[in-house]
Amino acid sequence: MQAATTTAVTAPRVVVFGATGRTGRHIVRKLVERKQPCVLAVRNIEKAKTALAVPDNLCTFVQADLMNKESLTKAVEGANTVLYAAGSQSLFGFVNSNDSAKKVDYEGFNLLVDACKAVSSHPHLVMCSSILVTSTWHPLALLINGMTGMALYWKYYGEEYLKKSGLRYTIVRPGGLVDSEGGATGLVVSQGDSLRGRTSRADVAEVMLQCVTRELTLGGVTFEVVASTGAGSKAPQSEAEWNALFGPLKKDASS
Ligand SMILES: NC(=O)c1ccc[n+]([C@@H]2O[C@H](COP(=O)([O-])OP(=O)(O)OC[C@H]3O[C@@H](n4cnc5c(N)ncnc54)[C@H](OP(=O)(O)O)[C@@H]3O)[C@@H](O)[C@H]2O)c1
Repeated sequence: MQAATTTAVTAPRVVVFGATGRTGRHIVRKLVERKQPCVLAVRNIEKAKTALAVPDNLCTFVQADLMNKESLTKAVEGANTVLYAAGSQSLFGFVNSNDSAKKVDYEGFNLLVDACKAVSSHPHLVMCSSILVTSTWHPLALLINGMTGMALYWKYYGEEYLKKSGLRYTIVRPGGLVDSEGGATGLVVSQGDSLRGRTSRADVAEVMLQCVTRELTLGGVTFEVVASTGAGSKAPQSEAEWNALFGPLKKDASS
């Protein structure tokens, strides 16, 4: 009788930033549902463990703060994919306070990009950005920037830093985030930052995970995504439906 051959299967190392956030929690839940092992890069491990209550056999926690480059390099060591759903939570924050949009969405995000470049695995970085980042004079952009210490402005410069980094990346720009049920409506994707609307956080999480498995087609792509307002529009479910949604998207000129 022939000896059975064993094939070593190395699970891709997926690292999530912003895992404790409202979008990040959906990402984590979906990874667990898919039985995908993941590393959750969080500022406070004890708090995150209690808040997320995820299975130990699938999720590992690592302490990481976007203000600390060393912690970021440790967190992304060996990663194949980094999912970024963190962001400043500061309203009217002082520009240089540690939770301001400038510090988190620009300086901290850039440190994460540097960390991904520094490790030999050079992970694919899937960034959650936002619509309106290039529409500086749109009334809604003026309002959001005024309320958030220029979050859209700093996110745009974070995007630009990532695009010029040489890393594999996908930039997802959702509309105004809402906590409605995922998969409840169809989705519309577009490029050029003219799309307006809202997006369920659960749908953003799903779209980001779809980007992971479509790195060949969605690597080097920036796109907006909002809920469809068309009556009876259905969320994509099958591979073919996701492919049809993403099909028209083009690679960024710089990629
Ligand atoms: N609000 C909107 O309408 C809107 C629209 C488009 C795009 N977005 C973007 O979508 C993303 C997700 O938004 P959300 O509302 O789901 O997020 P959220 O609930 O505000 O969560 C933010 C996450 O970022 C983490 N974080 C903040 N500062 C950090 C730091 N210095 N180091 C490490 N982690 C840090 C937080 O961790 P802790 O638990 O440690 O605080 C938390 O997990 C963000 O990038 C946001 O800017 C938002």
